[in-house]
Amino acid sequence: MAKSLLILTGHSQGLGRAILDTYLQKRNFEILAISRTCLGLDFPQLKEISLDLSELDKLEKVLETLFPKGDFEEIHLINNAGWIGEIKPVGKLNPSNLKKLMSINLLAPICLTNAFVAAYQNQNSKRIVCNISSGAAQKPVSGWSEYCSSKAALAMFSMVCEKENEHTGIRFFSLAPGIVDTGMQDQIRSVDEKDFPDLERFKSYKSQGALSSAQAVSQKISYLLSNPEKFEGVLQDVRDFELT
Ligand SMILES: NC(=O)c1ccc[n+]([C@@H]2O[C@H](COP(=O)([O-])OP(=O)(O)OC[C@H]3O[C@@H](n4cnc5c(N)ncnc54)[C@H](OP(=O)(O)O)[C@@H]3O)[C@@H](O)[C@H]2O)c1
Repeated sequence: MAKSLLILTGHSQGLGRAILDTYLQKRNFEILAISRTCLGLDFPQLKEISLDLSELDKLEKVLETLFPKGDFEEIHLINNAGWIGEIKPVGKLNPSNLKKLMSINLLAPICLTNAFVAAYQNQNSKRIVCNISSGAAQKPVSGWSEYCSSKAALAMFSMVCEKENEHTGIRFFSLAPGIVDTGMQDQIRSVDEKDFPDLERFKSYKSQGALSSAQAVSQKISYLLSNPEKFEGVLQDVRDFELT
C-alpha cells in the first residue's frame, strides 16, 4: 500500500486524540503528532514531538526540518491544537494570555501552513490543510473575544491560502467541529458566570447529552479529508454533512 502522511497538532487529548486514533487505524499513514504532551504510544508509524506552540521562536527553529520528505500518496496537515483562553469580557483581558492564545490558535497554524506549502507545493500528491475552526469564528460569544477573533482570522487565512493555491492543487479547509465533549468544554463550564453570561447554556449542553463525541467528529474529519472533491469551498462545518 502506498504511504501517506499526516501532520497533526494537539494529539494528546480531546478531538486531536480521536483524530490520531482514526488515522492509526488507516495503517497506510505515517503520522507526525505535535503537542506539549507526548503519549508514549508504541506504533511504528507514529512520531510524537513535544512542542509548545505558544513559543513561536522554538517552532520556527524546527520548522525547516519538521516536514518529512519523500513520495506520499496523500499529505494532510490538521491544525487542531487550540485553547479557549481566559474567558473574560473585554476590559479584563490579560495581554500575556492574549499573546499565548493568538500564538496557539492563529500564528502557529499560519507558520505550519506556510512551511507545509513551501515543502509540498511542487508535489503531485493529494495535499490538504485542515484548520480546525469553530462556530465562534462567525458567531460572537461574550467572554470569548480572543477565541472568536483567533478562529475568525484563521478562517480568513484559510480562504486566502485556497485562493493562492489554485495552481498548486493544495486544498484548504476551515472546519467547525460542532460542540465536542472534551477538556475544552470542561474548562468552559468551570468559568465564573460574571465573566461568561452563557454559562448555563453550556452546562445544559452537557447535562442534556447534546455534545458530540470526539470519536464521531474525528470520523467526519477523516471523511472530509478522504473525499475533498465532495466539498466545495473552504468553510465547512461537520454538522452540515453525514458520512455516506
Ligand atoms: N471542544 C469543542 O467543543 C470545540 C468546539 C469548536 C472548536 N474546537 C476546536 O477543536 C480543537 C481541539 O479542541 P479540544 O476540544 O480537543 O481541546 P482540548 O481537549 O483542550 O485539547 C487541546 C489540544 O491542544 C493541545 N495544545 C494546547 N495548547 C498547546 C500548546 N501550547 N502547544 C501545543 N499543543 C497545545 C493540547 O495538548 P497539550 O496540552 O499536551 O499541549 C491538546 O492535545 C481546538 O482547535 C478547538 O478550538 C473545539
